[in-house]
Amino acid sequence: MTGLSGSGKTTIGIALENELHKNGLLTQILDGDIIREGINKELGFSDDDRKENIRRIAEVTKLFVNCGIITICCFVSPTEEIRNLAKTIIGEKDFVEVFVNASLEVCEQRDVKGLYAKARKGEIKDFTGINAPYQAPLHPAIEIKTNELNVEESVKLILDHLKLNN
Ligand code: ADX
Repeated sequence: MTGLSGSGKTTIGIALENELHKNGLLTQILDGDIIREGINKELGFSDDDRKENIRRIAEVTKLFVNCGIITICCFVSPTEEIRNLAKTIIGEKDFVEVFVNASLEVCEQRDVKGLYAKARKGEIKDFTGINAPYQAPLHPAIEIKTNELNVEESVKLILDHLKLNN
Protein backbone atom coordinates (compact mmCIF):
# COMPACT_ATOMS: atom_id res chain seq x y z
CA MET A 1 0.00 0.00 0.00
CA THR A 2 1.27 3.41 -0.92
CA GLY A 3 0.03 6.79 0.24
CA LEU A 4 0.88 9.85 2.28
CA SER A 5 1.63 9.58 5.97
CA GLY A 6 -1.74 9.52 7.74
CA SER A 7 -3.68 8.40 4.65
CA GLY A 8 -4.88 5.23 6.41
CA LYS A 9 -2.54 2.52 5.13
CA THR A 10 -1.91 0.84 8.48
CA THR A 11 -5.51 1.13 9.65
CA ILE A 12 -6.72 -0.57 6.48
CA GLY A 13 -3.87 -3.08 6.65
CA ILE A 14 -4.84 -4.21 10.15
CA ALA A 15 -8.53 -4.49 9.26
CA LEU A 16 -7.62 -6.41 6.09
CA GLU A 17 -5.48 -8.77 8.13
CA ASN A 18 -8.43 -9.51 10.46
CA GLU A 19 -10.64 -10.41 7.48
CA LEU A 20 -7.96 -12.61 5.90
CA HIS A 21 -7.56 -14.46 9.20
CA LYS A 22 -11.31 -15.23 9.13
CA ASN A 23 -10.61 -16.95 5.79
CA GLY A 24 -7.88 -19.00 7.46
CA LEU A 25 -5.12 -17.20 5.57
CA LEU A 26 -1.69 -16.43 6.96
CA THR A 27 -0.64 -12.81 6.90
CA GLN A 28 2.23 -10.55 7.83
CA ILE A 29 2.01 -6.77 8.06
CA LEU A 30 5.13 -4.76 7.37
CA ASP A 31 4.73 -1.12 8.33
CA GLY A 32 7.10 1.83 7.90
CA ASP A 33 6.95 3.06 11.48
CA ILE A 34 7.75 -0.39 12.90
CA ILE A 35 10.32 -1.48 10.33
CA ARG A 36 12.17 1.80 10.76
CA GLU A 37 12.55 1.09 14.47
CA GLY A 38 14.00 -2.34 13.77
CA ILE A 39 15.78 -3.70 10.73
CA ASN A 40 15.91 -0.32 8.99
CA LYS A 41 16.64 1.85 11.97
CA GLU A 42 19.73 3.47 10.51
CA LEU A 43 17.83 4.72 7.45
CA GLY A 44 16.46 8.25 7.08
CA PHE A 45 14.27 9.87 4.46
CA SER A 46 16.66 10.88 1.68
CA ASP A 47 15.83 9.45 -1.74
CA ASP A 48 18.60 6.86 -1.37
CA ASP A 49 17.51 5.81 2.11
CA ARG A 50 13.87 5.48 1.07
CA LYS A 51 15.00 3.33 -1.85
CA GLU A 52 17.08 1.13 0.44
CA ASN A 53 14.17 0.93 2.91
CA ILE A 54 11.83 -0.36 0.21
CA ARG A 55 14.48 -2.62 -1.37
CA ARG A 56 15.01 -4.45 1.92
CA ILE A 57 11.28 -4.63 2.60
CA ALA A 58 10.68 -6.07 -0.85
CA GLU A 59 13.34 -8.73 -0.27
CA VAL A 60 11.77 -9.62 3.08
CA THR A 61 8.33 -9.66 1.47
CA LYS A 62 9.56 -12.09 -1.17
CA LEU A 63 10.64 -14.50 1.57
CA PHE A 64 7.22 -14.33 3.25
CA VAL A 65 5.42 -14.73 -0.07
CA ASN A 66 7.52 -17.80 -0.84
CA CYS A 67 6.09 -19.31 2.36
CA GLY A 68 2.55 -18.59 1.16
CA ILE A 69 2.02 -15.69 3.54
CA ILE A 70 0.00 -12.72 2.33
CA THR A 71 2.25 -9.80 3.11
CA ILE A 72 0.62 -6.43 3.61
CA CYS A 73 3.18 -3.69 3.12
CA CYS A 74 2.26 -0.23 4.41
CA PHE A 75 4.87 2.21 3.18
CA VAL A 76 4.69 5.75 1.86
CA SER A 77 6.86 4.52 -1.06
CA PRO A 78 6.61 7.95 -2.67
CA THR A 79 7.93 7.47 -6.19
CA GLU A 80 7.14 5.38 -9.22
CA GLU A 81 10.78 4.28 -9.26
CA ILE A 82 10.64 2.96 -5.69
CA ARG A 83 7.37 1.09 -6.28
CA ASN A 84 8.71 -0.40 -9.52
CA LEU A 85 11.76 -1.60 -7.62
CA ALA A 86 9.47 -3.39 -5.14
CA LYS A 87 7.43 -4.89 -7.97
CA THR A 88 10.55 -6.16 -9.72
CA ILE A 89 11.94 -7.77 -6.57
CA ILE A 90 8.65 -9.33 -5.41
CA GLY A 91 7.59 -10.33 -8.91
CA GLU A 92 4.70 -8.85 -10.87
CA LYS A 93 2.32 -11.76 -10.28
CA ASP A 94 2.61 -11.46 -6.51
CA PHE A 95 2.46 -7.67 -6.34
CA VAL A 96 -0.78 -5.74 -5.90
CA GLU A 97 -0.38 -1.98 -5.78
CA VAL A 98 -2.96 -0.33 -3.53
CA PHE A 99 -3.10 3.46 -3.60
CA VAL A 100 -4.49 4.73 -0.32
CA ASN A 101 -5.58 8.09 -1.59
CA ALA A 102 -6.27 10.84 0.88
CA SER A 103 -5.40 14.41 -0.04
CA LEU A 104 -2.59 16.24 1.68
CA GLU A 105 -5.19 18.57 3.21
CA VAL A 106 -7.03 15.64 4.78
CA CYS A 107 -3.84 13.96 6.07
CA GLU A 108 -2.58 17.23 7.43
CA GLN A 109 -5.86 17.92 9.16
CA ARG A 110 -5.82 14.47 10.76
CA ASP A 111 -2.13 14.80 11.68
CA VAL A 112 -2.40 11.76 13.93
CA LYS A 113 1.30 11.75 14.80
CA GLY A 114 1.77 15.54 14.84
CA LEU A 115 4.41 15.22 12.12
CA TYR A 116 2.79 17.56 9.59
CA ALA A 117 2.79 20.40 12.13
CA LYS A 118 6.48 19.75 12.82
CA ALA A 119 7.26 19.61 9.10
CA ARG A 120 5.47 22.92 8.53
CA LYS A 121 7.56 24.48 11.28
CA GLY A 122 10.68 23.20 9.54
CA GLU A 123 11.47 20.73 12.33
CA ILE A 124 11.37 17.73 9.97
CA LYS A 125 13.06 17.98 6.63
CA ASP A 126 12.16 15.93 3.55
CA PHE A 127 8.66 15.28 4.84
CA THR A 128 6.55 13.66 2.13
CA GLY A 129 3.88 16.01 0.82
CA ILE A 130 5.37 19.10 2.51
CA ASN A 131 8.97 19.35 1.39
CA ALA A 132 9.51 16.02 -0.35
CA PRO A 133 7.52 14.75 -3.33
CA TYR A 134 4.74 12.19 -3.47
CA GLN A 135 4.03 10.82 -6.94
CA ALA A 136 0.59 9.27 -7.01
CA PRO A 137 0.56 5.91 -8.83
CA LEU A 138 -0.76 6.22 -12.36
CA HIS A 139 -2.24 2.74 -12.65
CA PRO A 140 -2.75 1.24 -9.20
CA ALA A 141 -4.49 -2.13 -9.08
CA ILE A 142 -6.75 -0.65 -6.40
CA GLU A 143 -7.41 2.94 -5.39
CA ILE A 144 -9.01 3.65 -2.03
CA LYS A 145 -10.28 7.13 -1.37
CA THR A 146 -10.23 7.17 2.40
CA ASN A 147 -12.15 10.40 2.69
CA GLU A 148 -15.06 8.74 0.86
CA LEU A 149 -14.93 5.15 2.14
CA ASN A 150 -14.88 3.84 5.68
CA VAL A 151 -12.45 1.14 6.78
CA GLU A 152 -14.88 -1.72 6.17
CA GLU A 153 -15.65 -0.51 2.64
CA SER A 154 -11.95 -0.04 1.96
CA VAL A 155 -11.16 -3.59 3.03
CA LYS A 156 -14.01 -4.90 0.89
CA LEU A 157 -12.45 -3.29 -2.20
CA ILE A 158 -9.24 -5.21 -1.59
CA LEU A 159 -11.01 -8.51 -0.81
CA ASP A 160 -13.10 -8.13 -3.98
CA HIS A 161 -9.96 -7.55 -6.02
CA LEU A 162 -8.36 -10.64 -4.48
CA LYS A 163 -11.62 -12.53 -5.08
CA LEU A 164 -11.74 -13.46 -1.41
CA ASN A 165 -15.39 -12.51 -0.78
CA ASN A 166 -17.81 -15.39 -0.96
S1 ADX B 1 9.17 5.53 2.79
O1 ADX B 1 9.09 6.82 2.07
O2 ADX B 1 10.56 5.10 2.97
O3 ADX B 1 8.33 4.49 2.14
P1 ADX B 1 8.04 4.77 5.32
O4 ADX B 1 6.67 4.32 4.96
O5 ADX B 1 9.07 3.73 5.59
O6 ADX B 1 8.55 5.84 4.23
O7 ADX B 1 7.95 5.67 6.65
C1 ADX B 1 7.00 6.71 6.70
C2 ADX B 1 6.64 7.02 8.14
O8 ADX B 1 7.76 7.59 8.81
C3 ADX B 1 5.54 8.08 8.17
O9 ADX B 1 4.26 7.51 8.33
C4 ADX B 1 5.90 8.93 9.36
O10 ADX B 1 5.29 8.42 10.53
C5 ADX B 1 7.38 8.75 9.53
N1 ADX B 1 8.23 9.86 9.01
C6 ADX B 1 9.19 10.49 9.74
N2 ADX B 1 9.84 11.37 8.97
C7 ADX B 1 9.29 11.33 7.73
C8 ADX B 1 9.56 12.02 6.50
N3 ADX B 1 10.52 12.93 6.41
N4 ADX B 1 8.78 11.72 5.42
C9 ADX B 1 7.82 10.79 5.52
N5 ADX B 1 7.52 10.11 6.65
C10 ADX B 1 8.26 10.36 7.76
